[in-house]
Amino acid sequence: MSGLICERCGTRVEAGAAAAYRCPCGGLYDIEPDLDPRDASRLRQRFNERRCSAQAPESSGVWRYRELVLPETRSDEIVTQDEGHTRLLAAPRLAEYVGIEQLYVKHEGDNPTGSFKDRGMTVAVTAARRAGARQLACASTGNTAASLAAYAALAGIPAVLFVPAEGVALGKLAQALAYGARVLKLRGDFDAAMRLVEQAAAALGLSLVNSINPYRIEGQKTILWETLDQLGRTPDWFIAPAGNLGNTAAFGKAIREWRALGLLDRAPRLAAVQAAGAAPFAAAFERGFDRLEPVSAQTVATAIKIGNPVSYARAVRALRETEGVALAVTDAEILAAKAAVDQAGIGAEPASCAALAGARALRRRGLIEPQATIVCLLTGNLLKDPETNLAYAEGRLEGAPAPRASPVLEPTLEAVRGCLERAT
Ligand code: F0G
Repeated sequence: MSGLICERCGTRVEAGAAAAYRCPCGGLYDIEPDLDPRDASRLRQRFNERRCSAQAPESSGVWRYRELVLPETRSDEIVTQDEGHTRLLAAPRLAEYVGIEQLYVKHEGDNPTGSFKDRGMTVAVTAARRAGARQLACASTGNTAASLAAYAALAGIPAVLFVPAEGVALGKLAQALAYGARVLKLRGDFDAAMRLVEQAAAALGLSLVNSINPYRIEGQKTILWETLDQLGRTPDWFIAPAGNLGNTAAFGKAIREWRALGLLDRAPRLAAVQAAGAAPFAAAFERGFDRLEPVSAQTVATAIKIGNPVSYARAVRALRETEGVALAVTDAEILAAKAAVDQAGIGAEPASCAALAGARALRRRGLIEPQATIVCLLTGNLLKDPETNLAYAEGRLEGAPAPRASPVLEPTLEAVRGCLERAT
């Protein structure tokens, strides 16, 4: 059975024996995998065979890699709804937007609840149920909440969600309620909700499934592996939006493990893109990662409105090991990138589009070559945040183009003709 290792002081504990989510030194636990390069070809063969599997759990894009995700679990213990195997699309119009020859988007909005969170949640909820969890909990800007609500319902365990009272996108809140979870709207931001849920977990015996829970990270590693398998080669850059830094940490771990096994000879460079008003990681990167200075976060991309990311140390390691970069893009850049993604017919929620805005900024700085192969991660579905979509179309957001009216007409041919003639 794989053990846990503290990311800060290196103390090892047995999985299941850890009484809390943090080591007494304050560091987070990582799962320490048992990797033997002699297993590589056997694993590679299994992963390939399962690509066409029609049967759960291996049909899932997460459990296809189960030996490297949660090896000791029996199939009938797994809480899955066929997450993963999301689209990797070649996007020539977006390549043009960035100023490069080839660009792919990996669309994690295809997951069962519309965001990448399902990849981590299937693993965290499976592990929690095995450990006998009676109530699951998370703090969230919305997507983790929606995902937990769904997987908790699937597992038959109650869930309680700690969300900021203001600023959770409507689609996410509606999902969480529909799946039947208890939603606590807290007067404060995500960072306050995160602090509180950690205290509440310890005091009230809630099982926490935020990305401080190492099983979340294990599931999210599969985003990177699946992308490499779909592309059939290693991209030069893998660019993702970053908030609490769970994904950045997961991608670093995914690369580390495949390299240790010999399944990957070259690492893609990771880029973590934050919103300028919520960019403590990008700021720390600029200072050589001397320390994290939390901020009071502000951005239109509410999913990544996070000022004190919990996976900071793991994410620093991920960037150091991949010659990675962290950068910030403005809300106007995020919205312009979102308009490009949406109007290419692909569509994604605002935070997702920070990745494309980041790619464009890195190209402009000359860090990305025009011939580079780039994958931008789209983390959430277009339907998650209907208010922002409408506000942008109606010209109510800073930097939005002139409003596009959706006129209300009498249902007559004359009215339609008049309207179309006026518009041309
Ligand atoms: N994109 C979307 C759509 C997200 O919902 C999140 C995080 C991120 C990017 C950032 O990922 O935290 O791993 O760096 N959403 C969390 C939530 C915080 O509560 O749903 P990260």
